[in-house]
Amino acid sequence: MSKTKEDKVFRKKFNSIPDFTFGKEIASVFDDMLHRSVPFYDEVQRMICEMADDFSKDGTNVYDLGCSTCTTLLNLDSAIKSRVKLIGIDSSQDMIKKGKQKLVKNNVSKEWELICSNLNHGVQITNASAVVMSLTLQFIRPLYREDIIRNILSGLNDQGCLIVFEKVLGESSVFNRLFIKYYYDMKKRKGYSEMEISQKREALENVLIPYRLEENKQLFLRSGFRHFDVFFKWYNFCGMIAIK
Ligand SMILES: C[S@@+](CC[C@H](N)C(=O)[O-])C[C@H]1O[C@@H](n2cnc3c(N)ncnc32)[C@H](O)[C@@H]1O
Repeated sequence: MSKTKEDKVFRKKFNSIPDFTFGKEIASVFDDMLHRSVPFYDEVQRMICEMADDFSKDGTNVYDLGCSTCTTLLNLDSAIKSRVKLIGIDSSQDMIKKGKQKLVKNNVSKEWELICSNLNHGVQITNASAVVMSLTLQFIRPLYREDIIRNILSGLNDQGCLIVFEKVLGESSVFNRLFIKYYYDMKKRKGYSEMEISQKREALENVLIPYRLEENKQLFLRSGFRHFDVFFKWYNFCGMIAIK
């Protein structure tokens, strides 16, 4: 795999900070950005894939919504033993382009398809045994979240699962403040400066809208999922699984 470029997007001083978008500049450094900005990224990927493997059935589809550069699809390809088709959906052409290069270069063994589509306009899921949303639901406008979760539920086969990994708010403002402080400390340990952290925070302000864990849980149960559990929690990050 080609070496990922270092993320320096917010290293320069901006006069006015533009809203965060998943364009060419972000796509080119995205893998480095995720590894330095998401706690336990590799372990959570491994967990997502081992769970997806257990729910996967021959002849079904496994979706990754907000697939970005296809890291998860590549990991799913190695982890899933059933004969499934892997389908990645993302609204960013630049991410899809990068992801496609990665899948081709790594000789993905399973059938696969990448679709450039905006989830805010709905999503068509069919014959799915597992659906993954890793750090994606948080970017869906709240107005559309319930519709998307209901779409996913209706496209999942019985006993199929939805695996969601998200940034979350603390259940109270005290914990929220603390968790964010620990998170920024982690980013400093990974080499980001105070200025990079604060400029990125501002860029994400109206774009990444986290819910509390409890709000996410209620969203899944209200939409009709029968079982829900948390498989990962680190301060303001949470991995959740729901079963139809
Ligand atoms: C943080 S990244 C996901 C990271 C990736 N799933 C992983 O774990 O490696 C969020 C992705 O969601 C995509 N995205 C954001 N809003 C979207 C929308 N409305 N429809 C489709 N994709 C969207 C972005 O283009 C971006 O690639």
